[in-house]
Amino acid sequence: MEKVMTVANREDAIKILTVALEHEWAVSFEYIIHAYSMPKGKYFYQDPIMGFRTDIRAQTIQIGIDEMYHAQQLALVLRRMGLLPSFKTDEVIRFPRVLDNLKRDKQTEDLVTDLYQSARFVEGSFPEIHNMLLNISCDEVRHGRQFQTMIETMTGEGAGDVSSFKPAPQAEQKEEVRLLHELTRLENEVAHRYLYYSYLFSEHQDLGARLFKNSIDHMRHWDKNSGMLVKLGSVIRIENAEIQPDGSERSLKPMPDIYPGTDRLSALETLVPTEDRLIALYEKAVALVAAGEMRDQLNFHLAQNREHRFTQEWLLANARRVPNLK
Ligand SMILES: [Fe+2]
Ligand SMILES: [Fe+2]
Ligand SMILES: [Fe+2]
Repeated sequence: MEKVMTVANREDAIKILTVALEHEWAVSFEYIIHAYSMPKGKYFYQDPIMGFRTDIRAQTIQIGIDEMYHAQQLALVLRRMGLLPSFKTDEVIRFPRVLDNLKRDKQTEDLVTDLYQSARFVEGSFPEIHNMLLNISCDEVRHGRQFQTMIETMTGEGAGDVSSFKPAPQAEQKEEVRLLHELTRLENEVAHRYLYYSYLFSEHQDLGARLFKNSIDHMRHWDKNSGMLVKLGSVIRIENAEIQPDGSERSLKPMPDIYPGTDRLSALETLVPTEDRLIALYEKAVALVAAGEMRDQLNFHLAQNREHRFTQEWLLANARRVPNLK
């Protein structure tokens, strides 16, 4: 993460927002990936802020959601400044041990807290951006304390050597697992694609809000699919990751950084075929999975995507119908 010491002009403001956004996208991934690489309901800690004992995995997911909202705030400010926010990210890493993932999380929290708290805004320039960054930094201080307590608790309880999940080779051979990997990757891409269009149309608030709602649905699907992969003996993948000699997986491109479409029609036209693709994959997956909780969950995602497809067809038709829309 680059450090931006002084913010005196528009260029500096864009720089610090961009550096911050690349961090926030990365950790919004990294925490979800770290959480879904460890067991559910097995390692607990006493949260130092909330004052209750809770599951390390569940809280790591919650912190990941905070990071998505940080990214959202930064991206909307960049958009208001006339820019199109990118989805470029800092490096995303998964280590072979759960404890090393948590240590990495603590370290990135400290780095970004320093970025937000030490930037000097010259002569009261960009007061709202300055205030936003300070407000985000208080979440980062909390996250840092939470991760630190998780680390101390796991170490203290002799769980320092617990391994991150590895996919079982026989699980990876199964057609439903192959499909679920494809669906998990695509849900994540579609969640960010909808977010991109919500930024593109952020001034048209009702359209922006509709697209944002679909983005949240897809994030939930991404999250649930990641949990299902674990139940099937696999584990969420990091896109474009390379394995290092220390066993860590590292990626500088865990999601696409740009999406097609620059105006209303060209953007909306991409969404119906995207929903169709998701629907077709879910239909295949539902047919392969035995009746039960997992099939019910997949059917629920399928149903929501059919709802999205219906809505997107109408949004496109309505955009074509009304003259003078930009
Ligand atoms: Fe953050
Ligand atoms: Fe954070
Ligand atoms: Fe959808």
